[in-house]
Amino acid sequence: MNRPAPRVRAVAPGRVNLIGDHTDYLGGPVLPMAIQLTTTVDATRGGDVLDLTTTGFAGAARVQLPVEDPAAVRPDWARYPAGVAAVLGARTGLVGVIDSDIPPGAGLSSSAALEVAVALALGAEGGAPELAALCAEAERRATGVPCGIMDQLTSAAGREGHALLIDCGNGRVDHVPFPEDLTVWVVHSGERRALEDSPYATRRREAEAAAELVGPLPTAQLAAIEQIDDPVLRARARHVRTESTRVHRAAQALAAGDGPAVGRLMAESHRSLRDDAEVSTPGVDALVDAATRRTGVLGVRLTGAGFGGCVVVVARPGADLGGLGTRRWRVRPSSGARVEVD
Ligand code: GLA
Repeated sequence: MNRPAPRVRAVAPGRVNLIGDHTDYLGGPVLPMAIQLTTTVDATRGGDVLDLTTTGFAGAARVQLPVEDPAAVRPDWARYPAGVAAVLGARTGLVGVIDSDIPPGAGLSSSAALEVAVALALGAEGGAPELAALCAEAERRATGVPCGIMDQLTSAAGREGHALLIDCGNGRVDHVPFPEDLTVWVVHSGERRALEDSPYATRRREAEAAAELVGPLPTAQLAAIEQIDDPVLRARARHVRTESTRVHRAAQALAAGDGPAVGRLMAESHRSLRDDAEVSTPGVDALVDAATRRTGVLGVRLTGAGFGGCVVVVARPGADLGGLGTRRWRVRPSSGARVEVD
C-alpha cells in the first residue's frame, strides 16, 4: 500500500552577531543570538524535484534532483536550496511554500535560515553542528563565498533568552543567558552589500596568510603578531587576536548582567573592524557614531560581514533610536530551528 507523502514544516531563525566578526572562518569565537524573525518551509516530501514558491523573492525554485552545480541554478535565491540538496545528495524532493519575515540583504542571515529550513525539510540528520556544517558547505557551493559556520550554527542551535558563545574551532556552543534589562536593535545603514562582490574572500585569504606566519590567530601571541612585516597582514591578525579576547570578555560580562561592559567591548570591536579588519564603510561608521550618542545606548558595532549592511545596538529598554538608519528591527534572543513531520 502506498503511504501518503509526508508533510513537513521546518522553521529556522535569522541571527544577529553581538560581537566576534571575521573570526569564525579562522576557528575563533563568536557571540551571536538567533532572533524571532524566521523562515518556514511548508512542503510535501516526494518526487524528484525541489519545487518551492515564495512570496519573499521573485520566481520559484524548480530544481531537478540530484543537483550537480547549485551555482548555476536560477533565480539567484534558488541556489541556496539547490546547494543544500547538492551537499545532501538529495534524490527525494519537496513541493511546497517558503514563508519568511527575515529581510534579505540586511545582514540577518536570511540565506542561512533558508538553508537550515530546507535541510531539515529534506530530512537532514544529526545535531546542530552537523546541520550547520552541511548548510555552510551548501552556501559555499551555491555562492562561492568562503563563509564560516557562525550563521548556520546560530540558526540551528539558538535558545530562547540566550546568546550563543560558539567556539568555531571545534563547534562547541555555550548558551549565555541574555539579561532581561537589555534590548537589542539591528539598524540598517542603507548600504546594501552582496558578499559575492565584496572583499570577504580577500579578507579571509589575508588572515590565513597571517596565520601561516604566527599560527592560529585566535590564540597567537600579540608580540609575534606585532613582528609581522606586512602591515596589512599584521592588522588582520591583530583584529582576529583582539576580537577573540573581546568575545570571551563580552560573554562573561553578559552572564554577569554588565551591560556597560558589553557596550565598551562592542565599541572596541567596531574600531578593530574599521581600522584593522577594514570591513566598515564611512556610512556604517557614521551610523555607529550617531547611535552611540543616543541616550540609553550602551554599545554599537557593525555586525556580520560588513562592507555596508547593519549595525547592532545593545541598549536599555526605552532607548530612543528614532531617525537612525533606513530600517530598524528590535530583535529578541530566540529558539533555534525545528522541524515537524506528519
Ligand atoms: C558572514 C559569514 C559568516 C561570518 C561573518 C563575519 O556572515 O557568513 O560566516 O564570517 O560574515 O563574521
